[in-house]
Amino acid sequence: MEFQWYPGHMTKAKRQMQEDIKLIDLVVEIVDARVPMSSRNPDIDELGKNKARLILLNKCDLADAAATDRWKAFFESKGYHVVAIDARNNKGMKAINNVINEACAEKIARDRARGIKNRPVRAMVVGIPNVGKSTFINSFAGRASAKTGNKPGVTKGKQWIKLNKGVELLDTPGILWPKFEDQTVGLRLAFIGSIKDDLIQQQELAMELLKYIVKLYPNAIADRYGVDESQEAHEMLQSVAQNRNCIAKGGDLDYDKAALLIIDDYRNGVIGRMDLEFPEDYK
Ligand code: G4P
Repeated sequence: MEFQWYPGHMTKAKRQMQEDIKLIDLVVEIVDARVPMSSRNPDIDELGKNKARLILLNKCDLADAAATDRWKAFFESKGYHVVAIDARNNKGMKAINNVINEACAEKIARDRARGIKNRPVRAMVVGIPNVGKSTFINSFAGRASAKTGNKPGVTKGKQWIKLNKGVELLDTPGILWPKFEDQTVGLRLAFIGSIKDDLIQQQELAMELLKYIVKLYPNAIADRYGVDESQEAHEMLQSVAQNRNCIAKGGDLDYDKAALLIIDDYRNGVIGRMDLEFPEDYK
């Protein structure tokens, strides 16, 4: 499968982010816990250099818990602060305030040395589409959605959400674009739904996903769909269509329907909590 991404408006988004990043102390980068490397854009390291860095492994409710622990250790070993969260269900959010203080300890100490007291940490959420930026902002700022309004020195129109005494969050997230030099990155992003489905052939995507899962989590597909995992991917798709009664008009098997079923099941976590890449692949 070949993936392409058409940046277009992304150039503008990147320019906007370069401006916004000047205003902040802390970059809160959201990634998908199931594919934490494929769902980050490495340009953020350049854009966010000299800033405190926090990576949120979001959707951890859908990810493999043991792998999430290893990913956390992996990113921490590279100097990032890391919290695993499930923004949709408000899980893991409590830990974030403390970690923000840790991540910004240097800035807080620097302010103090200069006699600046209580200047809040300013944070901005960034990430590729669909990783949960809006969900996170709503969930994290929910109770504190009172905006602080414009301030001198801040570009007109910027809205800051005062989260607590110590932290203000820019209310609009920075949207990054996925990087597609490696086609497997595109494939993994398609599996999690971060690439528009109309760009992708569902049957091919479902067969690729079956191959991934059979290799990484043996028996999960057999258990869920009652299919023989030693078959070729197209045979497995056929078996799923048969076993799940995916029938088109005229009585033929409906492969598109079976493909969608598999993809939706994976995205909703019903095949199991599964990562599709592991830190060991990136050592
Ligand atoms: P974005 O701003 O980064 O583009 O992402 P957004 O918050 O819109 O979230 C994208 C989708 O991911 C949403 O689902 C959202 O509910 C879901 N999501 C966000 N955080 C989590 C999480 O921690 N766990 C799980 N399981 N899902 C999460 P949607 O299908 O587009 O909408 P809806 O079903 O919530 O209405």
